[in-house]
Amino acid sequence: MLPVLNINNLTKFYGSKKVVDSINLSLFPGQIYGFVGPNGAGKSTTLKMITGLVPPTDGSVRICGYSIGKNFKRAISNVGAVVEMPQLYPYLSGLKNLQLMAKFYGKTATKRINDIVKLVGMENRIKDKFGTYSLGMKQRVGIAQALLNKPKLLILDEPTNGLDPNGIIEIRNILRALAEKEKMTIIISSHNLAELELICDSIGFIHNGKIIENKTMQDIKQLVDQKQQVQLLCNYPHYSALLIKEEYKLSNIKIVGNSIILPLKDKDLAPVISFLMSKKIKIFGINKMEKSLEELYLEILNSKRPSSNII
Ligand SMILES: Nc1ncnc2c1ncn2[C@@H]1O[C@H](COP(=O)(O)OP(=O)(O)O)[C@@H](O)[C@H]1O
Ligand SMILES: [Mg+2]
Repeated sequence: MLPVLNINNLTKFYGSKKVVDSINLSLFPGQIYGFVGPNGAGKSTTLKMITGLVPPTDGSVRICGYSIGKNFKRAISNVGAVVEMPQLYPYLSGLKNLQLMAKFYGKTATKRINDIVKLVGMENRIKDKFGTYSLGMKQRVGIAQALLNKPKLLILDEPTNGLDPNGIIEIRNILRALAEKEKMTIIISSHNLAELELICDSIGFIHNGKIIENKTMQDIKQLVDQKQQVQLLCNYPHYSALLIKEEYKLSNIKIVGNSIILPLKDKDLAPVISFLMSKKIKIFGINKMEKSLEELYLEILNSKRPSSNII
């Protein structure tokens, strides 16, 4: 199958500084890909090269098989993008902004306006001035204008920036519907992994211009699960730790004050507790200690393992 987006060895220097470093990536219909990395990692520059706003120093971008450098018109006709904040006229209504934009694309786009406005849930406010909208509404109208030409590839740079959890969930629902119903491919950047977790099915971690790791959301959830620890508050923690070590052949049991910390998954917890109680150990409390996504993200960043970037 032809990838909707194919990036090959994409590189950008600003002066002598390499800000995007040999990025390779292929995305297919219906995939929602998250690009996560700290500020300055190179997310916006990469997205700008994909949309042809910035020329790459090296490498290539193909959209539905067309090179953005050599066949810009054909390539860009498949793209809808909001890179950095949506730049719309604040003194015109959302609707007027969309109508103006639709003129560039022709009649079909104009006919789509009502449907798109509904899709992004703006039908009640679309006649108000853009400048009066909340951040979340601006993002939604931004997405609406990116959808006018029925793109196969939707590119959103930090669309969740500054949104509250409800706003993020609304954006997620819009994007999920687009990916599932229209098989749109979506690439979305954020500096916040927890936000992307809600939206994406795979994630690329970018640091110093390099994709250092690609993971599916399933992989990430599994990793979080694997790293789960359980703290048991009990009498005789040293003795309890010994008992568990022998019975379950568990290594790396830690003793902290009057508690033991075990690398245990949810399903393994009940048998261990029953076992300890059968040995007359008293358990006063149980805490699940999940590794947060943020911690996991830092671990991945710190390990900085280069990896194959094709997913
Ligand atoms: N037009 C530019 N001229 C020079 N340096 C730039 C320019 N745009 C971005 N940079 C630099 O490139 C690096 C990556 O920036 P950017 O792609 O905006 O990162 P991100 O979107 O991940 O925060 C940063 O160090 C930034 O200062
Ligand atoms: Mg940016």
